[in-house]
Parts: sequence; structure tokens; C-alpha cells
Amino acid sequence: MAEEIIMRIAEPQDADSLRELINETIDTCYFSIYPKEAIDYFKEYHNRTNIVNDILEGHCLILFSGEELIGTGTLLGSNARRVFIKPEYQKMGLGKKIMYGLEEKAVEKGIRIMDLDASLVAYPFYRTPSYETQAEDVIPVKNGQSLRYYKMVKKLGD
Ligand SMILES: CC(C)(COP(=O)(O)OP(=O)(O)OC[C@H]1O[C@@H](n2cnc3c(N)ncnc32)[C@H](O)[C@@H]1OP(=O)(O)O)[C@@H](O)C(=O)NCCC(=O)NCCS
Repeated sequence: MAEEIIMRIAEPQDADSLRELINETIDTCYFSIYPKEAIDYFKEYHNRTNIVNDILEGHCLILFSGEELIGTGTLLGSNARRVFIKPEYQKMGLGKKIMYGLEEKAVEKGIRIMDLDASLVAYPFYRTPSYETQAEDVIPVKNGQSLRYYKMVKKLGD
């Protein structure tokens, strides 16, 4: 029988498991889309210190299937970030479950517009009628390479 999926708020001691999940998902999902230098940038951006800070200062949700950590997403202020679903659990509605959890928290905090930066990998997931693309942006990374992503917003409570 499939394990029940449980969602809870992350604690600082979850940071190492979160980092493992994020690095594995980046390695699997980004390698055919982004240059190596951009992948290294993403991994450094999601370093342990940043993860712990966001757990302490934001609303970080994590998903488990049994004992296995399979997904995450964080709301910090009005910004939804670090949304990752383990590759073998993608396309099962779990990304949506995380986003609904973050939106619910944002509404509770009185936030009217939630913003996020969508990787090229996640862009098709976010590009629905409820999200608006505001801009395409580029971060220069090492060796003259670049990291392209989209700035998006969602009006809440519509
Ligand atoms: C992007 C990501 C979070 C989506 O999570 P997920 O659990 O696979 O998404 P869901 O199953 O909840 O999908 C919700 C909807 O988006 C669609 N969708 C998801 N990924 C998609 C894709 N790559 N292309 C097109 N549609 C996609 C699903 O088909 C589904 O549509 P439906 O509601 O009409 O059935 C996940 O694929 C992921 O972790 N990707 C790699 C990491 C990443 O880029 N994270 C975001 C950092 S900005």
C-alpha cells in the first residue's frame, strides 16, 4: 500500500535532509536545461545557512512519505521560494499541495500578492492563469554563463 503523505512545518534539524533533497532534485531536473555553472550557483544559493535562516524566519513546509522527505516549499514575507519535489514524486499533485499551503499562510498574514522566481524548469508548472509573469531575468554566473529565470506574481484571494 502507498504510504500516506504527511505535511508539517520544518525545524532547523531538518536542514541536512532538505539540502540532500534539493541537491538531488537540482542534479536530476536541471542538468539538461542549465549550464553546470548555473547549477553550482543554485546549489550554493540553497546552502545550509540559507535553509536554516528561512526555516527560522519564514514558513517552511515539508512533505513526507513514511520516513522519506519528498518535498518542500517556503514562504518568506511575500516570497514563495525553495519549492522542490523529489523527482520520483513529481507530477502527483504535491507541488500544488505545497503551493496551496504557502498561499494559505500568506492569506492568513494578510499578504495580497505573492511573488516568486521561477526557474526554467518550474516555469511550466507556475504558468497557469493565476500566475502573472512580470519579467524574464538573467543572473551572470561563472565562465560567462548565465542563469535565466522568470519573476512571477499571484494575486491572492481572487
Ligand atoms: C516544479 C515542481 C515543484 C512541480 O511539482 P509537481 O509536484 O511535479 O507538480 P504537480 O504535480 O503539483 O503539478 C501541478 C500541475 O502543474 C503541471 N506541471 C507540473 N510540472 C510541469 C511541467 N514541468 N510542465 C508542464 N506542466 C507541469 C501538472 O501537470 C499539473 O497540472 P494539472 O493541475 O492540470 O494536473 C517540481 O517539478 C520540481 O520540484 N521541479 C524541480 C525543482 C524546481 O524547479 N523547483 C522550483 C524552483 S523555482
